[in-house]
Amino acid sequence: EQYQNIVVEHRGRVGLVTLNRPEALNALNTALMNELVDAVTAMDTDPDVGAVVITGSAKAFAAGADIKEMSSNSYMEMYAADWFRRWEDLTRLRIPVVAAVSGFALGGGCELAMMADFIIAGDNAKFGQPEINLGVIPGMGGSQRLTRAVGKAKAMDMVLTGRFMDAEEAERSGLVSRVVPAAEVIDEALKAAEVIASKSKPAAMVAKEVVNAAFEMGLAQGVVFERRVFHSLFATEDQKEGMAAFSEKRQPEFKHR
Ligand code: HXC
Repeated sequence: EQYQNIVVEHRGRVGLVTLNRPEALNALNTALMNELVDAVTAMDTDPDVGAVVITGSAKAFAAGADIKEMSSNSYMEMYAADWFRRWEDLTRLRIPVVAAVSGFALGGGCELAMMADFIIAGDNAKFGQPEINLGVIPGMGGSQRLTRAVGKAKAMDMVLTGRFMDAEEAERSGLVSRVVPAAEVIDEALKAAEVIASKSKPAAMVAKEVVNAAFEMGLAQGVVFERRVFHSLFATEDQKEGMAAFSEKRQPEFKHR
């Protein structure tokens, strides 16, 4: 795994990817995107990985898309390359992904964090969609995911004014699931990911799938989908083991299949 812009580690059943362009506050250029997508795509089908943590540095999760890389592009270059399209691959991962955010998560950095299944933030975190200050708008899903996460009022406020949201406001608004002291954010995310990775993997994968379906389906259709998927888990060894362990008053030993 020879990566220039990220560091990839395996901690037990958890894959940890650390964005590593400190000279640019982890600005998300094409090279970093390709490395990150390649690394997590490999983890997604690795039977020894049950969950992924994506993190940055203490100062910046990521300060946005790389402004310098794209600033002189023409419309046709952006359109022909379908700039940012490959980021969407991160939203099609089947295993759970936790974002551990310390410091700045701005523009594409905030959008990348929102592509994770949930965000754990350090108390120093700053979230924002400041693209309006550059004469553009969010381009990696921010207008859609931020609005679904925090509602219209706060999404409009942030996208139109470019102001930052601190960790406390982000938790209050539903953008992040937990706020912890900044120094503990990676440990807390790793612990959460270890818990997830210790569960039945097929159950965790479809749990993610059905929660995500809530953003795409109507309620009645989503409830039927959930029930059908629930039924399907009775084809797994892990369901038999999980329910047997409960009856026998012991811890389950999931085979993750
Ligand atoms: C390229 C970036 C960058 C970025 C920071 N850097 N953010 N390079 N793209 N998004 C670089 C700086 O140029 C600088 O390099 C180095 O990182 C350190 O940054 P400083 O600005 O010196 O740090 P500081 O003064 O602490 O300020 C931190 C900051 C500021 C507030 C986060 O860097 C900032 O405002 N960054 C841009 C935030 C932003 O607008 N993000 C949205 C990007 S657009 P040098 O070489 O000078 O030392 C985006 C939208 C996608 O994501 C969709 C449409 C475009």
